[in-house]
Amino acid sequence: MADLAIIGGTGLTSLKNLEISRREVVHTPYGEPSGALTFGRLCDREVVFLARHGYGHTIPPHMVNYRANLWALKYAGVSRVIAVCAVGGIRPDLLPGSLVIPDQVIDYTWSRDHTFFEKDLTQVTHIDFTEPYCTEMRSALIEAAQAAQISVASDGTYGATQGPRLESAAEINRMERDGCDMVGMTGMPEAALAKEMEFCYAVCAVCANWAAGRGEGDINMTEIKANLSRSMAQVRLLLEQAIEHC
Ligand code: HPA
Repeated sequence: MADLAIIGGTGLTSLKNLEISRREVVHTPYGEPSGALTFGRLCDREVVFLARHGYGHTIPPHMVNYRANLWALKYAGVSRVIAVCAVGGIRPDLLPGSLVIPDQVIDYTWSRDHTFFEKDLTQVTHIDFTEPYCTEMRSALIEAAQAAQISVASDGTYGATQGPRLESAAEINRMERDGCDMVGMTGMPEAALAKEMEFCYAVCAVCANWAAGRGEGDINMTEIKANLSRSMAQVRLLLEQAIEHC
């Protein structure tokens, strides 16, 4: 049985070296996940893959059914999750193409279904979110990067925005003052729901562009796609190496 899942973000709708054994459509009490779960072997380990935005990359960040995705993974027997997320870099070292393993998150999203603990409760539940990400999984990713000689930034605060529009320069300035090092649209509520589900969950963030107002000119989708596709070879390598460490 696969206890490890990989959630692919923008630029990662499939895992090239995954030997696929089966696909399963899971219907959940929270509705439909982004797609069928793909089961297979990657580097001799059973894993489950799910493309967050759907296999055709058609579901925008604010429409992803995060609860259904995580519920489906739990149902499949998963306990550990590596999530890949595209971000814009705010901190000066997070230039396009770089990889970062965030250690904190600030949530600016709104009106997303963000908890499993809302109806039919026997008691009100508040999960601890002091450390949003699983320390063990973060270390596994950082060690895997070192072993594969892949450069990763080993900390950073992920600011999760609502999207689907990108941010204004003033919003990014405010986020920087708040302590955000990177900005993305999918980091929340996924991390909180993963914590509610008691998954060991960590993010590998891929810098697709400079955040608004930090680079030259407008943020250009062609450039974002080009940066992501250049970085995905490294992400795949990191995932394959990490599988041995987690
Ligand atoms: N902002 C929000 N989400 C993103 C960005 C960005 O600049 N780049 C990639 N995902």
